[in-house]
Amino acid sequence: MAILVTGGAGFIGSHTVVELQQAGEDVVILDNLSNADERVLGRLKAITGKDALFYKGDIRDRKILAEIFEKEKITSVIHFAGLKAVGESVEKPWEYYDNNITGTLTLIDEMRRHGVKNIIFSSSSTVYGDPDAVPVTEESPKKACTNPYGWTKSMLEQILSDVQKADPEWNVVLLRYFNPIGAHKSGTIGENPNGIPNNLMPYITQVAVGKLKELNVFGNDYDTPDGTGVRDYIHVVDLAKGHVCALKKLAPGSGLSVYNLGTGTGYSVLDIVKNFEEATGVKIPYVIKPRRADDIACNYASPARAEKELGWKAENGIREMCEDSWRWQKNNPNGYAD
Ligand code: NAD
Ligand code: UD1
Repeated sequence: MAILVTGGAGFIGSHTVVELQQAGEDVVILDNLSNADERVLGRLKAITGKDALFYKGDIRDRKILAEIFEKEKITSVIHFAGLKAVGESVEKPWEYYDNNITGTLTLIDEMRRHGVKNIIFSSSSTVYGDPDAVPVTEESPKKACTNPYGWTKSMLEQILSDVQKADPEWNVVLLRYFNPIGAHKSGTIGENPNGIPNNLMPYITQVAVGKLKELNVFGNDYDTPDGTGVRDYIHVVDLAKGHVCALKKLAPGSGLSVYNLGTGTGYSVLDIVKNFEEATGVKIPYVIKPRRADDIACNYASPARAEKELGWKAENGIREMCEDSWRWQKNNPNGYAD
């Protein structure tokens, strides 16, 4: 009996593989390595002492999916595989819809053909758009997305909900992640963006390690305490543990479940800079720049439902998130290439 982790060589997937194996689960990974490095597998083994079976392949490839479902005893799928760069999705909408939507449709079709009807899906706080009120709960309205990446998450939530409604044998968990940062305590696995990072924490760590000159702070005139954008940063290991807890919602008859995975606390860009400097002793020079297109002022979660129903709560604070992001970056300035 094993869990299929699509995108298991990526940032959140690799951390989830660790937590699954440490909880005693057998893991099969399917990843096309479009945004990952195979060398992560050796690092995973060094942490857990266990092998994860690895299939290099694409979720749009029915042949490899059929092979996995026929050979391995898969009970449930944790589905991370997808493209996730917001700006790139605006330039390449077809590629994003094909990879994320065609990919997921193909995956769930092969799942049902092989009688596997349990899935945990990586959704995002992006489905709330610019929220009317914070903290957002799972009942807060979903709003229009501003880019194809966001739409793929919103549409896939709808698709998975409709599939579950039509066939109650499906158990579907939609996990809406807030802003994952941090890395495994070992400092051996972490986020490894291609090119110049889009997201805040990898940008900061690359400034800290000397690869980038200074941080551009996108806007200081938002309606927030210090004028910079506020987000709910969550340690990736806490996020990974949320998936282990969510497995219990794949029990027969569970149906459709939706959870925010966040800490419930918002930090501004300047809060993050200050906390990073305090946690690491490394100075982060920054300049204030105009707002980034389509950015929102503030978003943070109510994680109450996940705590009540899954018994899950984020344990790491902002200091650990900064320390652990830095340990990974410092030890691996060029990601897995070193
Ligand atoms: P990631 O890019 O590190 O991981 C995604 C993995 O999927 C990569 O290893 C990539 O090689 C693989 N992949 C992509 N397309 C594939 C395909 N067609 N077939 C097989 N493998 C494929 O990203 P991540 O940060 O670990 O994110 C994981 C999931 O969580 C994604 O679905 C992402 O959209 C979602 N998510 C991420 C964040 C975030 O801030 N990181 C926030 C909300 C939601
Ligand atoms: C981004 C994505 C969102 C995705 C989320 C998690 C956009 C518009 N949205 O959201 O769809 O779900 O990541 O992966 O990209 N910031 C800077 N300087 C930087 C980078 C970021 O000031 O170099 C600021 C941003 O303006 C924002 C905050 O830092 O206020 C966080 O940014 P980021 O890490 O990109 O996450 P989100 O904007 O929440």
